[in-house]
Parts: sequence; C-alpha cells; structure tokens
Amino acid sequence: MDTPRKVEHQQTDRGYVPVYATGVVEQPWASYSKTDHEVWDTLFQRQRDLLPGRACNEFMAGVERFGLGDGGIPKFTELNKVLGAATGWEVVAVEGLLPDEVFFDHLANRRFPVSWWIRKPDQLDYLSEPDLFHDLFGHVPLLLNPVFADYMQAYGRGGMKAFAIGPEALMNLTRLYWYTVEFGLINTDEGMRIYGAGIVSSKGESIYCLDSPSPNRIGFSLERVMSTRYRIDTYQQTYFVIDSFDQLFEATHPDFTPIYAKLRELPAHAAGDVLDDDRVFTRGDREGWATGADT
Ligand code: PHE
Ligand code: FE
Repeated sequence: MDTPRKVEHQQTDRGYVPVYATGVVEQPWASYSKTDHEVWDTLFQRQRDLLPGRACNEFMAGVERFGLGDGGIPKFTELNKVLGAATGWEVVAVEGLLPDEVFFDHLANRRFPVSWWIRKPDQLDYLSEPDLFHDLFGHVPLLLNPVFADYMQAYGRGGMKAFAIGPEALMNLTRLYWYTVEFGLINTDEGMRIYGAGIVSSKGESIYCLDSPSPNRIGFSLERVMSTRYRIDTYQQTYFVIDSFDQLFEATHPDFTPIYAKLRELPAHAAGDVLDDDRVFTRGDREGWATGADT
C-alpha cells in the first residue's frame, strides 16, 4: 500500500489522533493494555466455544489459519503475511467508520479496514459501533476464501458505481452488504450455518439466528435483498440464506445499473415481511419483534 498522506488530527474518545486521507493509521499495538488483550481473549473464547457446528467451515478454517486464538490481540503485520499470500488482501488499521467512498476504495483495492481499538470489559455483549473484535474476528477469516475475497472486492467496485449513481442505489447496495456480509446464513450439507460477520462476532445473535423461532429464514434472491429494509437496533427479523459463495458471487455479477433503476420505482419491503414468492426455510413467529420503523 502507498504511504498514507497525513491530513489532520482528530479528537476522539481515545484522544487526539492523526487521521489520513485514506483513514489509515498504524495499529498502535504497543499501546494495548492488559485489559484490552483480556477482552480479546474472553470474546474469542466465548465464540470458539459457541461456533463449531454453527459457523460455516470456511469461517472456522480461517480462524484457525490466522491463529486468532493464540492469545492476546493479533498483530496486523503478522496476519497480513498469511492473508497476502492466500488471497492478496491486506488488513489496514483505522479509527472507526469511514465515509462510504473511502470504504469502497479500500475494498476495491483488497484492503480491509479494521478498527484498531477494542471494546471495554462492560461492553462484551453490545456496542453501537464496530470495534476490533467485530472487524477482525467477524470479517477477516473469510477473506482467506478465494470466492468470498473476490466478492468483497467486487462489492467495493460496485460501491463506487452506486455512489456515483445516487443515494437510492447506495441504499440498495448497503442492504445487500447487510444481509450477506454482515448477517448472512449459508445452507450447507451439514445444515444451516453462519457466515455473516455481525453474527459470528455476537454471542447472542450466534444463538438466536439459528435457534430462535422468531426470525424468518428466506432463500437469497438479489432483488429481494436489495429492496428489504433492516434493523440496526435489534437482532434481525429476517436472515437470507445462500446455497454457496459461488451462488452469491454469480448472482451479484450482473451490472446493477438497470436493477437500481427498476427498484427505484418499487416500494421497499419491511424487515420482517414474507412475500408470496419467497423460498421460505422457516417463517418467523415474530415473537418479541420491535414495532418501530426499520432502516
Ligand atoms: N455487479 C455489481 C454492479 O454492477 C457490483 C457488485 C458485485 C456489487 C458484487 C456487489 C457485489 O454494480
Ligand atoms: Fe461489519
């Protein structure tokens, strides 16, 4: 990666930090406290106990290959040796969420931005912005899978295009990210499994998404997903299920420009809707669903 250009400093909860045009900073590994490393270990062990038989094999294999459970917060430089050799991806440290176009540019160039800071011990179960555990444990293992790695890059390129087309297109594309990369399920020979980063990094949702009778589990369909709103404040009301990463990659290969134009004319579906032509794996009983508006 090119040396990032330093543009300014920014005041954050974690102090006054340099921010670059790309959002990239050095991972300040030496500054992690003993508590930070313990938070990583605790979160890791919880998910390691929970995910066998729940997360897909590709995800579990990635966790192993990176040695994410070797003890303490991993060094990005070490992970990048494995990742670069496998799929040409690279993890870069950032302060937090990036502007859409900056995020897309990273993905389009096979760089995955990871928040370098980790949550506090009283935030093990929930925090409102992505931290190191979500970004690294949740997203990075699947970047070792060649098909998923290509999907993420294609998504970044598609993001640049949607950004240029306009906010509605961007919303359609963001829903695709939400229901695949963040909250996707995959139907395997061994049963339904998790691949979404938002699920594998959450103890509660790792259980809920497979075991609870509340949510719908519906077969993936591109336009269906792109026109479905989602919830950011609760577990999902609907999960979309792919058959394989190849299916996901193929389905998203066509030019989205005409799809954006078509969807613009159609109403969006609520997060919990079940439609007549859905391929329904399970229909949720809607128990405990919040009634407020979804995104
Ligand atoms: N094919 C999409 C387009 O033309 C790009 C894309 C690929 C988007 C993969 C998401 C995932 O915009
Ligand atoms: Fe995420």
